[in-house]
Amino acid sequence: MLRLAVEAALEAGKYLKENVGKISHIEHKGGHETNLVTEIDKKAEETIIGKIKKHFPDHDFLGEESGAAEVKSEYRWIIDPLDGTINYTHGLPIYSVSIGLEHEGKIVLGVVYDPSLDELFTAEKGKGAWLNNKRIQVTKTKKLIESLVVTGFPYWINKKPEPELTHFRNFIVEAQAVRRLGSAALDLSYVACGRFDGFWEGTLNPWDMAAGVLLVTEAGGTWTDYSGSPSNVYNPQVLTTNGLIYEQMIAVLKKGTGSREL
Ligand code: IPD
Ligand code: CA
Ligand code: CA
Repeated sequence: MLRLAVEAALEAGKYLKENVGKISHIEHKGGHETNLVTEIDKKAEETIIGKIKKHFPDHDFLGEESGAAEVKSEYRWIIDPLDGTINYTHGLPIYSVSIGLEHEGKIVLGVVYDPSLDELFTAEKGKGAWLNNKRIQVTKTKKLIESLVVTGFPYWINKKPEPELTHFRNFIVEAQAVRRLGSAALDLSYVACGRFDGFWEGTLNPWDMAAGVLLVTEAGGTWTDYSGSPSNVYNPQVLTTNGLIYEQMIAVLKKGTGSREL
């Protein structure tokens, strides 16, 4: 199953890369001017699901663009064919393909592929995490002030900027630096391989995080909600860390909860 997920991610990633700058149709999902989907997102998802279905016709799928089919299997593939659509539409080479596999409610396999850098992140439950077949681990940074952390915002932040802005501000003054890349799957992969020390985002979907959270935990990191409780991919609130700055990040998030809307 891991090999199949890798093949599907590489094929979709190649397609994405070949089509940079060739988008012919941008739709605004639900009429929101900042929530984009292109024909490329849809085609990439069809490719991935078609490929997996050939081998596992009875499995369930949850894809960002095609939604969820009825629940009939203990296996569910959770797919974001293009994570970082806004970057992609601007030609900014920070985007990825994310494929996670859930078995009886637990994520057991995760693959994130970055076609721009040809970086393939893989994880299997209980077996560790890899970047291009090299074992990866989270950082050993102990202090938030020495940490590089990353976050993301929902597409509706222009209409409702809180509490995200308050959290962003609070981390800017407490961390070494804060980044916002625009692909949650890569944010999580980068925590797993030690490029970031922590990541938080409060409004994620299962397809944004399914593969990435497994990468982080298999690389030795923590994954909880903002209060520090163990989480699952259907909880939009995600905090992943190297484990050592976990309490410091929770303390900062606690300061921002209850922020008023602007
Ligand atoms: C988005 C990206 C972004 C995150 C958003 C997601 P999409 O996914 O992961 O980093 O901040 O919350 O919606 O729309 O590009 O697949
Ligand atoms: Ca996404
Ligand atoms: Ca997407």
